[in-house]
Amino acid sequence: MFTPDILLPGPTPVPFAIQQAMLTPMTDHRGSTFTPVLERVRQRLGELFAVGPDGGAVVLPASGTGALEATIQNFFREDDAVLAVCTGAFGNRFAEIAELHGLLVDRYTVPWGQAFNPTHLLTLLDQRDYRGVLLTHNETSTGVINPIQTVLQQIKSWPQASRPLVVVDSISGVPAMPMAMHSWGIDVALAASQKGFMCPPGLAIIAAGARGLERLQEKRSHRFYFDLLPYFAGKLPYTPATSLVYGLDKSLEMLQEEGASVRYRRHQLLSQITRSFGEAAGWRPLVEASVASPTVTALEVPNGQSPNQIRTQIAALGLQVAGGMGPWHDTVIRIGHVGAIAPASLFAGLSIVAHVTPHPTRGLDAAWQRWHQEIDREAMI
Ligand SMILES: Cc1ncc(COP(=O)(O)O)c(C=O)c1O
Repeated sequence: MFTPDILLPGPTPVPFAIQQAMLTPMTDHRGSTFTPVLERVRQRLGELFAVGPDGGAVVLPASGTGALEATIQNFFREDDAVLAVCTGAFGNRFAEIAELHGLLVDRYTVPWGQAFNPTHLLTLLDQRDYRGVLLTHNETSTGVINPIQTVLQQIKSWPQASRPLVVVDSISGVPAMPMAMHSWGIDVALAASQKGFMCPPGLAIIAAGARGLERLQEKRSHRFYFDLLPYFAGKLPYTPATSLVYGLDKSLEMLQEEGASVRYRRHQLLSQITRSFGEAAGWRPLVEASVASPTVTALEVPNGQSPNQIRTQIAALGLQVAGGMGPWHDTVIRIGHVGAIAPASLFAGLSIVAHVTPHPTRGLDAAWQRWHQEIDREAMI
């Protein structure tokens, strides 16, 4: 009867202004109304990802997994050796897709709930002549933000010829956390519309720096719909998801209005509030604070209760939160705090979660304290 509130790591609430933008009437998608909008979106995405000179960004109709597969098909060939850094379900998925397409995949698998170790990663990269390294910026299944910047600064100084192509899945990262492809040394980065961009699902975003675009020119077979060459050349090979592009255009305008640094800070604050709640209410956060994701928090359900039962109880009160994935399926819920989430929405959601715990107010008190400790909160509202 009513639309539930959602605290999911995607899809996320779609602001009214974006909904309105998506109602723009249909026109010829190669005509004079839509073309400049798409160009503006690509331009703004290039700036947001900071692709650097000669880089660019494209959008195509697909979910995030489409971006993962398109990346493997376009920037690699069969028998390319790649190192896949697997810090959870989505790192594993990237590795699986690469294997399916005949790449020679070595996996660096990290225990669930941990970030990769930059020193170990560098050692592994030294052991083989890799054509690419596949990284996850923000591992949504565990709620871990990986220290990509630390490791990439090192790789960037290697000679061009021996440097693997650096690919970063930032599907649940950008624009809720900083991204600077060129200065960090990222060649290809991926995102999707339904997370920090606050749009419905359906758009895959692929950004490439100059090195990425060079690699794209290499001849390879087995790609048709996901052939990225025409997209990066500014052509529209197939019908675009026009309504979603209008929505993304509005979303990028809203990002400018809020300011990127305020947006990052808001997400960090939401993450800290959620952790403080979890610690005090007996819902243990499963990730160290130093690598806690700004966009999603995994909490262990207290007293051995069933997360699914709890999620059903919570849903009956009008709130949807996400379940645990993989090995955490039977013990964890994930609270998403990404996109158009005001502190008030998070507090409302946490009070529903608190309702099903033995000491309901303790967690909320801690969450409020954390809120009050923050000095620049006025900038967030
Ligand atoms: C980090 C990451 N990679 C890939 C995906 C897959 O995206 P999609 O579900 O849109 O296909 C997700 C989705 O949650 C994700 O969080």
